[in-house]
Amino acid sequence: MSALGRTELDVFPICLGGNVFGWTADEPQSIAVLDAYTAAGGNFIDTANSYLLEHGRSETIIGRWLADRGDRDQLVLATKVGGGHGPTRNLRAQTIESEAHASLERLQTDRIDLYYAHFDDPGTPLEESLRAFDALVREGTVRYIGASNYTPERLEAALERQRELGLAEFAVLQPLYSLVERDFERTLLPIADAWDLAVLPYYALASGFLTGKYRPGGEAVDSPRAGAARAYLDRGGAAVLDALDEVAAAHQTTVAAVALAWLRTRPRVLAPIASARTTEQLEQILPAATLELTPAEAERLSSVGMQPEASA
Ligand SMILES: NC(=O)c1ccc[n+]([C@@H]2O[C@H](COP(=O)([O-])OP(=O)(O)OC[C@H]3O[C@@H](n4cnc5c(N)ncnc54)[C@H](OP(=O)(O)O)[C@@H]3O)[C@@H](O)[C@H]2O)c1
Repeated sequence: MSALGRTELDVFPICLGGNVFGWTADEPQSIAVLDAYTAAGGNFIDTANSYLLEHGRSETIIGRWLADRGDRDQLVLATKVGGGHGPTRNLRAQTIESEAHASLERLQTDRIDLYYAHFDDPGTPLEESLRAFDALVREGTVRYIGASNYTPERLEAALERQRELGLAEFAVLQPLYSLVERDFERTLLPIADAWDLAVLPYYALASGFLTGKYRPGGEAVDSPRAGAARAYLDRGGAAVLDALDEVAAAHQTTVAAVALAWLRTRPRVLAPIASARTTEQLEQILPAATLELTPAEAERLSSVGMQPEASA
């Protein structure tokens, strides 16, 4: 476990992504994955009010699991507001307030450990959204707040405004970041450095590409993500897979674990977020929690990973 940036949360080095629950994993599979993750020592679960096919479905499944298991105090639960489709895709004060309480109900808990602005909402005055997040922290509904999918300019503006107004500040950033998506390094990392934000990368497995199951000339993969994942092959992803194969062989571990372990070597990254639709997939991910790459291995992967300019 490590401290999550400047929060008082202690988290497992791999955060379990919840967008698969009720989507590519049905409820029994989801429960099995949650059980296996916590049995292996995991305590950090990421979801959103909008996940995924049906608003609140992932949170509802997590809530049922939690009610059965009753180990709430051992867990760090992160959820989000402002994404998805329909009337709650915004960061109006009323949406933030009512969706936070709806999330509590679905999750069957009395607090959200980490609450994210899922997407920026330029249509709502920044101060209105930030004050609404602050009110949730003050009333104890939410312990810490974070931001996802903001441009660098808007993220900086939000952080400055929070400081100026004495409001609860974003302590965590959840960006798109992996070996094949590295824009983060030149866009948002300088802001994370300047404002001391902990970084939790999403799509850490590039929708499955970094598990090695998409290969040049390889068999078709049965997944709604296959189109997006396979596209990395056309953008130079085969060289990344070659390097991952080499490092995985040296450690007798999986390609997925090496891809996640590389993220853990990167500045400010605390815990990559990855999802598994089955316990078999999860087993291949979990070694990343303890896998330590040598500096030479990390450097080899960094040099072959798609450079920021190439991963627009
Ligand atoms: N903030 C945001 O806007 C945002 C956006 C996206 C995601 N997220 C968060 O980040 C989490 C992770 O993202 P993600 O789930 O979309 O993508 P991901 O972690 O990059 O990819 C996970 C997918 O890869 C496949 N996979 C995983 N392990 C595997 C294995 N061992 N062998 C073969 N395939 C394997 C599975 O999909 P298949 O079986 O279907 O191939 C799995 O669902 C989400 O659950 C969510 O919590 C946040």
